[in-house]
Amino acid sequence: MAEIETIEHDVLIIGAGGAGLRAAIEASAQGVSVGLVCKSLLGKAHTVMAEGGMAAALANVDERDSWKTHFADTMRGGYYLNNWRMAQLHAQQAPDRVRELEAWGAVFDRTAAGKIMQRNFGGHAHPRLAHVGDRTGLEMIRTLQDHGIHQGIDVHMECTMSSLLKDGDRVCGALAYTRELGKFKLFKAKAIVLATGGIGRAYKITSNSWEYTGDGQTLAYRSGADLIDMEFVQFHPTGMVWPPSVRGILVTEGVRGEGGVLKNKNDERFMFGDIPENYQSSTADNPEEGWRYVTKTDRQARRPPELLTRDHVARCILREVREGRGSPHGGAFLDIAWIKEKIPNAEAHIKKKLPSMYHQFKELAGIDITKEPMEVGPTTHYVMGGIRVDGETQMSTVPGLYAAGECAAGLHGANRLGGNSLSDLVVFGKLAGEHAAKFAKENGEASIDPDQVSTAQAAALGPLDSGRAQVDGGAYQIQYELQELMQDKVGIVRKEEEILSAIDEIEVLKGRAQTVRAPGNRQYNPGWHTALDLQNLLVVSEAVARAAVIRKESRGAHTRDDFPEKEDAFGNVNTVLRQGADGQMEAIQETIPELPDELQEIIDERR
Ligand code: FUM
Repeated sequence: MAEIETIEHDVLIIGAGGAGLRAAIEASAQGVSVGLVCKSLLGKAHTVMAEGGMAAALANVDERDSWKTHFADTMRGGYYLNNWRMAQLHAQQAPDRVRELEAWGAVFDRTAAGKIMQRNFGGHAHPRLAHVGDRTGLEMIRTLQDHGIHQGIDVHMECTMSSLLKDGDRVCGALAYTRELGKFKLFKAKAIVLATGGIGRAYKITSNSWEYTGDGQTLAYRSGADLIDMEFVQFHPTGMVWPPSVRGILVTEGVRGEGGVLKNKNDERFMFGDIPENYQSSTADNPEEGWRYVTKTDRQARRPPELLTRDHVARCILREVREGRGSPHGGAFLDIAWIKEKIPNAEAHIKKKLPSMYHQFKELAGIDITKEPMEVGPTTHYVMGGIRVDGETQMSTVPGLYAAGECAAGLHGANRLGGNSLSDLVVFGKLAGEHAAKFAKENGEASIDPDQVSTAQAAALGPLDSGRAQVDGGAYQIQYELQELMQDKVGIVRKEEEILSAIDEIEVLKGRAQTVRAPGNRQYNPGWHTALDLQNLLVVSEAVARAAVIRKESRGAHTRDDFPEKEDAFGNVNTVLRQGADGQMEAIQETIPELPDELQEIIDERR
């Protein structure tokens, strides 16, 4: 067996995006020793790609906003499958987390009165997203990183976790390899926080970065934790569609929040043809004022239909394309340039509020968004499902193992509202760090079983075994086939026979992935890393497909062609996925605990 460096921390945080950094800061503040592991370099987290803002009921732009309305919007957006305690804590604590970032140096855009500016986003009843132009995630990471590096946290960069280790039921450590030299690191820890982000790389078209290969979800699943609601994968309505090399890159919802409208090739604002009954819309859009509501009953009165929830908008774009009214490269047109009819200095306004979008389209597509419309289409963006956690503490079903951010599940139910991700990261990152530190203090050392370490090491080295078959394209080819499969058969619109066939095909790909060889040795070997990432992608893909097949209805981000309506039987159930005794993945459904009366009242008052 290869030699291993052993490192010990009270709390080990895996993932250094917004949730991981915030967890590390909090755990460290509790006086325990903290190790923070990044798959990439510190600061290069996928959080930087969350552009449009961070939802928090600060009520700076509309004084009627409150945590209660934010809570009700989040529950409605999630089709009431949310973990209501998480939705409550999130709405209550998000404003403090925004103010804390400001105190730590984040430079938010300001209102004329000097308060933190907030913009409209889909599904939020009031302008609620605190933002920094369209670079909010970047500012969040910069701020947390600047603050975090002074908190005595040990950072381990370019390091990928391959297995978690357990002492009885409890988690006690993890085995990792360094990406550069392929050296193993054995981490001993009293508590571990997973904050590894999403699974978008299981799909062909995605806004997600290369790190998003379902690592945390798989580590947790393999160590016996439950995953829930994996069928709910969010397809953001607006990714780039052209040129092909940049397909899927995010076009922030902030474009629509600033007044951008969607049109088909006939110059029609097709979203007006698809407004749900309880949503009143108007053409009286005024980007300068924002869309303000006057009373509870006309709360939605001046919201443009482009700001309906993401699941809805994505399906409408898909419909336009399928019915022959799409843009030349298979999307729709998104026009922000039109606001010059409404406000003076529109060009400067667009460049100020959407600087990244301006550059992105100028550099990558040769389009000046202050003058021409963009071409956009749905892109795999986020997974609402993930590791099941306790709403108060963020502990998974495995003692000592915590999760926060995108890899954890519960807050968003069947569909996440834009902007609720950045606030999720800091609200639950903080709670996970706090409770992991508490667990570490209250529970003594656990012991590492050398056999588990050897088994984990052998599994990680498997793809380098010279006895394995070298197939054309290696792990890359299998990953490519998996991405095509998930896109085609477990994508935006699904049906039974396609999902079942996807499950069969995933089984075949799993067999091939088990024996694929990565040529070369452990140093500088991305083929080896891909072979290991692929194992995770296969687990999360299977979880998505198995959950999708048993939810025989359409709800939120899960759309079934063969069951196009919401069904009462599924209206209060979470899908639970876990490893059975035979090692096979089991999918069952569990009833969601009933909402307490006071939370139900908050929702009812705002229906
Ligand atoms: O559209 C966006 O800027 C994405 C934000 C989010 O997913 O929260």
